[in-house]
Amino acid sequence: LNYNTQVDSSEVVQRLLTGLRRLEYRGYDSAGVAFDTTRHEDDDEDLVVVVKECGNIDRLSARVERTMRERGEEIDFKAVKQTGHCAIAHTRWATHGVPSEVNSHPQLARSQGSGLVEWCVVHNGIITNYRPLKDFLSSRGLLFESDTDTEVIPKLCKYVWDGYDDAQRGEVNFREVVSQVVGELEGAFALLFKSTHFPGELVGCKRGSPLLLGIRQRGGGDDDGASPGAAEVHEGNGVCLSPRGGVGAGGRDHSEHHGGGACEFYFSSDASAIVEHTKRVVVMEDGDVVHVSGGGYSVYAAPQQRQHGLGGAPFGAHHKISRQLETLEIGVEQIMKGGYDHFMQKEIHEQPSALVETMRGRIALEVEDCSEGDGSECTLERQGSLKLLDSLDLLKEDGGGAEPLWRGATPRVKLGGLEPHAENILRSRRLIFVACGTSYHACLAARQVVEELTRVPVALELASDLLDRQAPLYRDDTCFFVSQSGETADTLNALQYAKRRGSLCVGITNTVGSSISRETACGVHVNAGVEIGVASTKAYTCQILVIVMIALKLSEDSISKGKRRNEIMRDLLRLPSMMRRVLREEGVIKNLARELAQETSLLAFGRGYNYATALELALKVKELSYMHSEGILAGELKHGPLALIDETMPAVVVATNDALREKMWSTIQQLLARKGRLVLLVSKGDDDILNYFNGEENDGRARIITVDTVCDCLQPILNIVPFQLLSYHLTVLRGFNVDQPRNLAKSVTVE
Ligand code: G6P
Repeated sequence: LNYNTQVDSSEVVQRLLTGLRRLEYRGYDSAGVAFDTTRHEDDDEDLVVVVKECGNIDRLSARVERTMRERGEEIDFKAVKQTGHCAIAHTRWATHGVPSEVNSHPQLARSQGSGLVEWCVVHNGIITNYRPLKDFLSSRGLLFESDTDTEVIPKLCKYVWDGYDDAQRGEVNFREVVSQVVGELEGAFALLFKSTHFPGELVGCKRGSPLLLGIRQRGGGDDDGASPGAAEVHEGNGVCLSPRGGVGAGGRDHSEHHGGGACEFYFSSDASAIVEHTKRVVVMEDGDVVHVSGGGYSVYAAPQQRQHGLGGAPFGAHHKISRQLETLEIGVEQIMKGGYDHFMQKEIHEQPSALVETMRGRIALEVEDCSEGDGSECTLERQGSLKLLDSLDLLKEDGGGAEPLWRGATPRVKLGGLEPHAENILRSRRLIFVACGTSYHACLAARQVVEELTRVPVALELASDLLDRQAPLYRDDTCFFVSQSGETADTLNALQYAKRRGSLCVGITNTVGSSISRETACGVHVNAGVEIGVASTKAYTCQILVIVMIALKLSEDSISKGKRRNEIMRDLLRLPSMMRRVLREEGVIKNLARELAQETSLLAFGRGYNYATALELALKVKELSYMHSEGILAGELKHGPLALIDETMPAVVVATNDALREKMWSTIQQLLARKGRLVLLVSKGDDDILNYFNGEENDGRARIITVDTVCDCLQPILNIVPFQLLSYHLTVLRGFNVDQPRNLAKSVTVE
């Protein structure tokens, strides 16, 4: 919502389209926008133009341009609205109703006679009671156009509004209409409302799905939108002060009164869509209703005794509250491609620094005594007796774990968010890791080391399955909810379920302020940085790292595990440089992708720590390149999958050096005996395997990728990287959209 009179309709639409592009990872089968304009011959009349299109944002953008060309004579697309310019937009990932123009958002209610748009709504989430609402509204004569659950919302607005007499309409405000409507809804939602009955106003509300309000104030040529603290935007009293201190009131642009000061308000499901305009945000809580009008905003909260979670926060008795303005920590550069062709490629290559960021401030060396010896132990500057390693230590080319850094020092993991609960976690009967998709694979990769170091039984749960089974959870269980986005509906629902059963709930997410991070008792932020490619890469490797660090933290008092812990800690610091070496092999992997690009199927075998690598590899290949792919536990080879092996079927075997290497060698032999077409991932220096395949017995068909050897529990972090690159190049070669695979969304906020 823009109160800046220097901004016209088409500029507002452009900003929304750019914002939508940043959100495309959430879904992209159709999109739409509704914005204010006027007619050339009557610039007092409010006219809302709605443009919708199937497909991605580029298609919507082209459609908007076409509309402007075709209707340019009738409509003033350069209109500047004195009441504030209000527009909403949406990119959809279909849940109810096929992807189509009519099913895309904004969903609308029109006036019966003229057909002009009256109410527009965009929705992220799902309305579970839409059927009875639709039946009710239909029985009252409202006609539905779409198959969506969302359409009941604008229709309810119309029903409520039409029920008022003229006197009531004069009294009721936009927020009150919305509160009534939302009180009828069950399910999860973030909603934005726009109406011709309330020009220059927007109402946003949320329950279960994320929503932010970004605030930018421009004034007198000084654009202070990105520098928190400079502007003085007041919340709670419905006004927005210009930087020069004047107070604007009513629905007029304040620049008229205060030398060019003007506010812009941005609602978004995600910070990435608004960060280029402002870093000052209100993170809305469940039950909040935010009303933007007259150049200011007010936040209303649901009553104290409201229930959290899905299905029933009452919206009736909202009261005005004050919510703190927060400052976003992501930069615009973090959401740009930075010279890479695709976000996924960029994110794969960001992994060395993402690992560093994930460890930064969390690995400390406890220096015992610097006064004795030759002083070589004291290469570290001391902070008390604890030295936190900074990124430079961690980024040393040969690994921060090189000897001098470690001599005489005891490594420790510091995880502030977890520390107060560490004892309770260790006393648990079970540790249960709950996640979906790639995040689940990260849990699988790290499970063994958690069990080994804590000696507490570890269970893994796919969130949807946990709920389907209504699995027994107890007060003495600790549940870890692992999610890149922190918004996945299945994981979030499992979290509510675990909370109801009294389990201690720990969040591991990559998104500060996400629903999972807010709803859990404690947690660890992954710190991999913004991930935009739908297929998760850097979040995966950093999630494994975080879980390993949690295991190290929880076991720090165990003397018997001391040696093993030191071994792992030391290799932690070598990971970033080893990861860089893997990435340098991209050319080799690209050649391999060329050889495999025309295949229809690919099998992947791993066991132990690298069963997860096989599953994640297969997931990446199938979700991106649409090649059928299956990850198989190597121990199961003889129990079925061997039947698929012949000289044409590519079979990837993860056989890096660990306690199971001999068993993997048997797997390789069994595959060779069936003339299997092998792609092997082996450790550098594993001469037995390398010589064998370079020798005469091998007919030269096997392809070999080598990686450095690192501590077994960290090996999956390196091992997945060649396969991330393989799936990336397979997809490019096969001509598919790397960052936006069909039918998928990055953040699945519906069950
Ligand atoms: C979607 C994404 C996957 C992701 C999964 C879990 O399916 O496409 O890449 O692994 O959700 O997401 P989360 O944000 O909870 O890790």
